[in-house]
Amino acid sequence: MTSFQAARENYRARAERALAERLPRRGEAPERLREAMEYACLNGGKRFRAMLVYACGEAAGAPPDCPGCLDAPAAAVEMVHAYSLVHDDLPAMDDDDVRRGRPACHIAYDQATAILAGDALQTRAFEVLAAEPSLPPARRLRMLRALGGAAGARGMAGGQMLDIAAANGGLRGMARDEERGEMEQLARIHRAKTGALITAAAQLGALAAARAGGKSFLARVERYAECVGLAFQIADDVLDVTASVDTAGKRGGGDRRMQKTTYASALGVEEARAAAREQCRRALREAESLGDNAGFLMQLARFAVERQS
Ligand code: IPE
Ligand code: IPE
Ligand code: MG
Ligand code: MG
Ligand code: MG
Repeated sequence: MTSFQAARENYRARAERALAERLPRRGEAPERLREAMEYACLNGGKRFRAMLVYACGEAAGAPPDCPGCLDAPAAAVEMVHAYSLVHDDLPAMDDDDVRRGRPACHIAYDQATAILAGDALQTRAFEVLAAEPSLPPARRLRMLRALGGAAGARGMAGGQMLDIAAANGGLRGMARDEERGEMEQLARIHRAKTGALITAAAQLGALAAARAGGKSFLARVERYAECVGLAFQIADDVLDVTASVDTAGKRGGGDRRMQKTTYASALGVEEARAAAREQCRRALREAESLGDNAGFLMQLARFAVERQS
């Protein structure tokens, strides 16, 4: 195991614990809903966003004797992400039946339960952050605002709206934006549906440090994460064409079935990979100045592009 793999495994295990401790306990919610939330959350995600919280938090100087300062935002971001996946797989959206190598939440349970589990995961994320006693209230407020913005109409939900509107016939159908180029539109969708939450993960980590590592540190972390976020979704587009359900844990080919324009369909796999690598190079340049953890953050940017799942 390389030291990067070992560091990732460490963060992953920490994220699993942080999540498990913060989901509703037996008796605190209708059992079927609670189970579905667990099913959607504790099921083998890569925890890429949690790793960004931890690594950016440590780079910014988050206090090592305050585990909750990073565990709460890491769990919150992963809960929002898990909710987005549950809703993304619904028949009304991407209509996918496999997620993280298992039946999607609405297949294992039913659509109503999946919708409600997604709703409850999202609200739980904000509750977890708001209630974290080790974070000063003003810090919590900034984190809540960043996460709300990233998950909402200007971020993930907005990006998902554009993604759905652009399916079945491609981006050219989006009349109001005719003047924009197709690739520019696609980048906009990817930055919103995926990049925003990835950027929020990095921001929340940095915000856990007393001085957030300084204003310019926060701005650099944001620029790094914006490039990583776009690279991450381009790589996801490529995996939809190239990966198998055994390696990726989700069925490929869904983008083509839904007639989505993706980096892979618009540019071809090789050029799409090159576009992801270009975003990675930009992220690496920003990461150079991110202090002690720059090495890990650089490897994480490469991982976003080179991953097989
Ligand atoms: C999948 O995200 C959906 C996208 C935004 C591309 P991940 O690839 O991070 O999925 P998990 O969390 O590891 O399952
Ligand atoms: C997902 O994009 C973006 C989300 C906000 C969930 P995709 O629809 O491409 O993600 P997968 O391929 O289903 O994981
Ligand atoms: Mg989708
Ligand atoms: Mg999908
Ligand atoms: Mg995809």
